Amino acid sequence: MPRTPYIAANWKMNKTVAEAAEFVDTLLPRISATQHDVVICPPFTALTAVVERRYGTAVKVAAQNMHEEDSGAFTGEVSAPMLVELDVEAVVLGHSERRQFFGETDEALARKVPAALAHDLEPILCVGESEAARDGGETEEVLERQLQADLAGIEAADLSKVVIAYEPIWAIGTGKVATPEQAQEACAYIRDVVRMRGGAADDLRVLYGGSVKPGNAAELLSLPDVDGALVGGAALDAEDFAAIVEAAG
Ligand code: PGA
Repeated sequence: MPRTPYIAANWKMNKTVAEAAEFVDTLLPRISATQHDVVICPPFTALTAVVERRYGTAVKVAAQNMHEEDSGAFTGEVSAPMLVELDVEAVVLGHSERRQFFGETDEALARKVPAALAHDLEPILCVGESEAARDGGETEEVLERQLQADLAGIEAADLSKVVIAYEPIWAIGTGKVATPEQAQEACAYIRDVVRMRGGAADDLRVLYGGSVKPGNAAELLSLPDVDGALVGGAALDAEDFAAIVEAAG
């Protein structure tokens, strides 16, 4: 069975409720025929507005983060049961901006990924190397370390329920895109790591993220081990995002 393309819009800290509603209303007619998984990741405050507009469509909704505990004294945090109650279906975990600016650790991710699965939220786990690591020839080492740590608590049979986004940090928001060779190699390597862990690697969806735009999406999405994209900047515009969904074939 071919893997269903998975195209996700990571809005980061952008869009009010009114702006989110406008985006969805523009996007839906443009993608009504798609067979792909189309995922929107709004900020917490706009989750409900997107959920309500997408009922009856192919669009899934993902949060951008969550806490690993179900409840407790964790001021400012949001848990899996709270997201599920809103009919959110997925959650981005370990985005490099969370790792870099908010102290997200592999130890926390090792608890967040199983917590998401336990509540039937599809984790979109982000991994990726810094520019220094790539220049030092350490890309595979970094990817393997992150994957082994973050997926430590996941049974082999559940590994392919996780969507993994390869996001080289040097390509995020910089306009610098990984070359097709770099993206293919890293995504294939991620699949190999999951295969070595005993996972159903042929079913695993591996996304590329980092300066994906309408103009480069078709080439990246045609690569054999790139099953989709996690799109930041270009996903703030509904027309651009629709063009990226179309570029997936
Ligand atoms: P970008 O962001 O498309 O703006 O590079 C991607 C991401 O951070 O997921």
